[in-house]
Amino acid sequence: MEINVKAGDLIREPSDLAILAVCEDTQLPSEISALFEGGDFRGRADQTLLLYPRTAGSPRRLLLVGLGKRDALNPGRIRRASAAALRRVQDMQVGDMTVGTYGDLPLDPEAAAQAFAEGLELGAYQFKRYRTGLSDEQTFRVGRAHLFTRNGGERIRQAVYVGQKIARGVILARELVNGPGYAMTPAVLGDQAQSLGKEYGLKVTVLDKAQLTEQGFGGILAVGKGSDNEPRFIVMEYNGAKNGAPTICLVGKGLTFDSGGLSLKPPEAMETMKSDMAGAAAVYGAMQAAAELELPLHVVGIVSAAENMPSSGSYRPGDVVTTLSGKTVEVLNTDAEGRIILSDALYYAQRYQPEAIVELSTLTGAIIIALGSHAIGMMSTDQKLADRMIRAGEASGERVWQLPLWDEYHEMIKSEIADIKNMAGRPAGSITAGAFLAAFVGDYPLVHLDIAGTAWVTNPTKPYEIHGGTGVGVRLLSSFLRNYAI
Ligand code: BES
Ligand code: MN
Ligand code: ZN
Repeated sequence: MEINVKAGDLIREPSDLAILAVCEDTQLPSEISALFEGGDFRGRADQTLLLYPRTAGSPRRLLLVGLGKRDALNPGRIRRASAAALRRVQDMQVGDMTVGTYGDLPLDPEAAAQAFAEGLELGAYQFKRYRTGLSDEQTFRVGRAHLFTRNGGERIRQAVYVGQKIARGVILARELVNGPGYAMTPAVLGDQAQSLGKEYGLKVTVLDKAQLTEQGFGGILAVGKGSDNEPRFIVMEYNGAKNGAPTICLVGKGLTFDSGGLSLKPPEAMETMKSDMAGAAAVYGAMQAAAELELPLHVVGIVSAAENMPSSGSYRPGDVVTTLSGKTVEVLNTDAEGRIILSDALYYAQRYQPEAIVELSTLTGAIIIALGSHAIGMMSTDQKLADRMIRAGEASGERVWQLPLWDEYHEMIKSEIADIKNMAGRPAGSITAGAFLAAFVGDYPLVHLDIAGTAWVTNPTKPYEIHGGTGVGVRLLSSFLRNYAI
């Protein structure tokens, strides 16, 4: 979508459709009540009301959209309101609109402009690749928005640009997650990295099964053994500042389909398991955004991609796997596969001597029990890094909630026969998984983000989300990286 930023007063500008965002219980200005019939609009969050002028004039229509209570206003409310408005506009099949707010909002204008752009782009996202016979109405896309602010200005324009680029990253992640498992194999994830590399000048390495075998990626190989879709190990390097910039590794779980393997999942639990590569998808989206925004950082995206299937070639409960690190893992449950493929990627990340390793994975069902879909579960070996991530969560609206990684949790995953075991029962299921990961990064600061509860939504409650992949992590990582760059 094209979004222009202009200085001016929305109500005086000619327009087919003007959108005015209003806080709850704001007295509408007389110029509006004079022109338009009132209606029952209170400005509650996401509420919309379409008004027509009493006499022909401009704007030809006015769409009011609610921002909720003024003292509870935050960028999240703006993101929601702009998505809610965009959907109304899409329904009306109006291709071009003007947008503004009534009065000054108690918000940083740049944060508001960024959230506004994110809401428009994400609200417009649809996944219709597998639908046939769609009408023009169903495929209609809004082409252009003109944002009117009191001063216009380069900073607002820049903030809108940032919001659009981040949203494009979120959409890339959603596309990858929504693609069915048969279409989104580890090899396809490898190709995807290659094409990102071509487009943005990233240095990309994709290792296939033969190379993984030769180089000892025992974790990825073990998990991928049961599937005809062979595993891949993928590295994408973006260098936005050639010398002396901090290196950040982003590591993603790329389980293109998780059946559970021989420890097979029940059918309902498998329904959404094409989304088990959402961590990898977030890494792709964030790499794209970092490159688009030309962040002055060295960012290395690392993805372990495999499919977890039951077959006579599968790894078994009771097997012992020698990972890339040399550490041995006792496999008790083949459905605790994410931590095994990630162990190779986390160990590999050390070779970049990163200032931070940020890892994302749909790792445990237990995090859904703990936090539902309203927060990402976070564990970290470095409190400064964790605090940075908490701030990024608040700024981006993708909130994280920290769980501890005390020694006692590391004790729980000691094995009798190998160095470590891949599960320790249900108690503290998310934390023992995090403790497992932490065993593979040496002394490098790690933050682990468990996105199992947030990567997929079945009943969307936010107007900028649809049924399916949310693209979670891209906004969070973008905010984290942008703050790191200053
Ligand atoms: N991919 C799943 C976790 C998951 C569950 C993600 C639900 C999204 C929604 C992961 O590989 C898994 O199966 N974890 C097991 C671990 C257990 C066997 C220790 C789990 O959480 O049940
Ligand atoms: Mn699993
Ligand atoms: Zn999994």
